[in-house]
Amino acid sequence: MANPISRLIMTLGLVLGVMLAAPAAQAQVNPTQQSVNEGALLEALGSGGNVAGRITIPDESAGYLIKPDNKLWAALQGDTLHQISIWAVIGMVALLTLFYVLRGKIRVDGGLSGRKILRFNTIERFAHWTLASTFIILALSGLNLIIGKTVILPLLGEAAFGTLSAWGKIAHNYLAWPFMVALVMVLLLWVVHNIPNRLDLEWLKQGGGLVKKGVHPPAKKFNAGQKIIFWAVIAGGAALSYTGVMLLFPAEAGTPADWQFFQTIHALTAAVLSAIIIAHIYIGSVGMEGAFDAMGTGEVDENWAKEHHSLWVEEVKGSKASKGRTQPAE
Ligand code: HEM
Repeated sequence: MANPISRLIMTLGLVLGVMLAAPAAQAQVNPTQQSVNEGALLEALGSGGNVAGRITIPDESAGYLIKPDNKLWAALQGDTLHQISIWAVIGMVALLTLFYVLRGKIRVDGGLSGRKILRFNTIERFAHWTLASTFIILALSGLNLIIGKTVILPLLGEAAFGTLSAWGKIAHNYLAWPFMVALVMVLLLWVVHNIPNRLDLEWLKQGGGLVKKGVHPPAKKFNAGQKIIFWAVIAGGAALSYTGVMLLFPAEAGTPADWQFFQTIHALTAAVLSAIIIAHIYIGSVGMEGAFDAMGTGEVDENWAKEHHSLWVEEVKGSKASKGRTQPAE
């Protein structure tokens, strides 16, 4: 037989057990508990369904807790996007360094002649430099959003990083507009010179004369390599512009999942186009003797032009000669 003390302890234990069990028994019949059943949420997502709630405000998209498309976005956040952006930039810089070591600066084989030809007029250079300067600031301020916290914050400290990021965000949102205007200008000014033709295949077969010294495949105003840059800038710029406007105006973008889709495309396009542009900047500056002048003063050396754009030089000289012939005698 149990003594009175152990009977008291058993009774107290029984009372305590009933008290603790009561809420659990109540939970089984509480319908709102269903909303926190994670197993059911995952099952709905796995079968391609949405997890949405009931809302009373006009914005229907606010009812979605999570959509299956978000999985791509979620997977790319943080580390993956970080890695893609960093490796696109580092990979291209490494390739160009290797190219520089193996090939060196591309020189004008015939030496500089001292005679100049007008290659790009003031409007063309204005469009190019507006596009170039806005793109570079957009790319750097965008990259800061992705890798700033892990790479720049430890270097600058919180106060400087905070100021830099705040200005970066303002610059990103406002410089997008002159970028888009310049993109349209560049398209209108140069599209006729960038239609692919048979010459481009020959140029590509000969590696554009970039690989072997002394090789100069014929080209008109733009060669195949430049046409690739041009169309990458137009297509990438258009994709960045459209997705960027959607990010700025989420109500136009659709559901939160649609907005996240635009963000993914925006970031991936920016990474790929930045890598392509790094190669362009290299060849347009330190990589090739005489190239920068085309966008600097607008005039290039005649020997440079003959080596890289022989058919364009013939066209320019031909049209000058025919203009000379048709001028009335005084
Ligand atoms: C400091 C940066 C840059 C430099 C030094 C530079 C230099 C040049 C030069 C010298 C040319 C004329 C090449 C020729 O004579 O045929 C050119 C053309 C061009 N640039 Fe740039 N550029 C820069 C940045 C950019 C950026 C950021 C973009 C676009 C986002 C861009 C887009 C273009 C396009 C579309 C062309 C015409 C196609 C071509 O020549 O590849 N440039 N650039």
